[in-house]
Amino acid sequence: MFATMGALGLAPSAEAATKTPFQPPQPSDFRLRGRAAAKVLVLGGGVAGLTVAYELGKAGYDCTVLEARDRVGGRNLTMRGGDRLEEIGGAAQRARFSDGQYMNMGPARIAQWMTTMDYCRELGVPLEVFANSNAEALIYNESSGMTAPVKWRTAKADVYGYISELLAKATDQGALDRRLTETDKERLLSFLSSFGAIGPKSSGYAYTGTDRRGYRVDPGAGDQAGTVLGPPPSLSEVLASGVGRSFSFELGYSQAMLMFQPVGGMDAIPRALAKAVGPGRIKTGAEVTKITNLAEGVEVHYVKNGKTHLAKADYAVAALPPNILAKIPHNLGAGVQAALEYPTVVSAGKLGIEYTRRWWELEENIYGGITNTDLDTSVIWYPSYGYGTERGVLLAYYNSGRDAQTYDPLTHAQRLERALQAGAKIHGPKFRRDIAASLSIAWRRQPHLEGAWVSWPARGAEYRLLNRPQGNVYFCGDWLSYEIAWQHGAFESARKVVTELHQRVLKS
Ligand code: PHE
Repeated sequence: MFATMGALGLAPSAEAATKTPFQPPQPSDFRLRGRAAAKVLVLGGGVAGLTVAYELGKAGYDCTVLEARDRVGGRNLTMRGGDRLEEIGGAAQRARFSDGQYMNMGPARIAQWMTTMDYCRELGVPLEVFANSNAEALIYNESSGMTAPVKWRTAKADVYGYISELLAKATDQGALDRRLTETDKERLLSFLSSFGAIGPKSSGYAYTGTDRRGYRVDPGAGDQAGTVLGPPPSLSEVLASGVGRSFSFELGYSQAMLMFQPVGGMDAIPRALAKAVGPGRIKTGAEVTKITNLAEGVEVHYVKNGKTHLAKADYAVAALPPNILAKIPHNLGAGVQAALEYPTVVSAGKLGIEYTRRWWELEENIYGGITNTDLDTSVIWYPSYGYGTERGVLLAYYNSGRDAQTYDPLTHAQRLERALQAGAKIHGPKFRRDIAASLSIAWRRQPHLEGAWVSWPARGAEYRLLNRPQGNVYFCGDWLSYEIAWQHGAFESARKVVTELHQRVLKS
């Protein structure tokens, strides 16, 4: 019966199971086996490391987390008024945001399918919608000759409209007859008619613009029908503007709406994890300086308050970025060293500006969401919290790769000036007014991290090697997953290591 229901699409199918179920280690796992939970040193108190300690802790493992920075979370970093942000080879910044305002310097959005959502539920971290796309936000491609930004809704109306017109014409003229039956053609034309809001056959399926583009004067009461924004630019102009390049983003598996964020800042996640692990098990300001794998167990040297300490355990989980691990002396061999040096470190940067008035809401009807540009600032993010209140922190840029590299060596003042110039091209002079505070980060220059994320030129022997324990040392982090630069990758990698380590301890 179940199989029949499945065939009818009434029962959950194998396709529905998109995640390997995770069984956290439990005290009862040890009871019948005469084994004891092991002692584990976790190197790095980012999301991966904290999760390892949290999950192993459930079964009574004796975990200690060594974190070099002065707070846990790693790249999951939220800055509020009074917080200090150091930079390698640059001046430290002090966040001057007012009460209730914050900036997520690293992770800032969570997709619904991600394991991050499960941890938020389990840890009681309240979530709200993160607006990852918004019809009212803008697209501005300067290098394509655009002289003014357009709203996403307008760009979509025009691109969908003209593409539909072209496809309808080709279909109607028989250009697709080898591919389509008569019925297919009817159905396709009917779809294109609604998808592109194009005219009837008698008009040649012409796209001439509709209210999807938006209004110059909004509809109101009585005789106020509103004035539609128009006429649309020509097909050739729309293609030249390149606005259509932006559309695929929101179709991505990891970027499609709805997306979510913890209320009040992303660091609610590491805070909740650290609380669950127990503050007594976490040493901050503890920089690992040497990792020694022994026949039985591991030894880890670390420096805290200028003093070198030696910690011993049965196992170590190295949950640090590979570029940082590559600088720490170890006895794991040349192959491991080469593998740690293999991934490419990627730059990313963000600059946040607190404004004393939400001009993007007041003057442009933009409540959250993202503006796209081909300028080196890449995007503008409008805050997905506090709608309709006075102040808000807007991201004036979030760039990565080459664009970020141009911002990495700049001072904060220089970054701000470039961000303001770019922002003013899109929003006009108001981008420079009503500024209360600003803060920027270049992840390449963050102590103990020195990168935003890494990319594997190929997930080959190096990736496989580090995904296996080397003696009593395990590696862990988003960089050992297929979702690099997402907390999901860190959580999944932590669960994988926890599962493997626990199996081994039970068998040992
Ligand atoms: N997760 C990060 C973000 O959403 C970085 C990233 C961007 C990762 C795009 C993959 C794709 O901004």
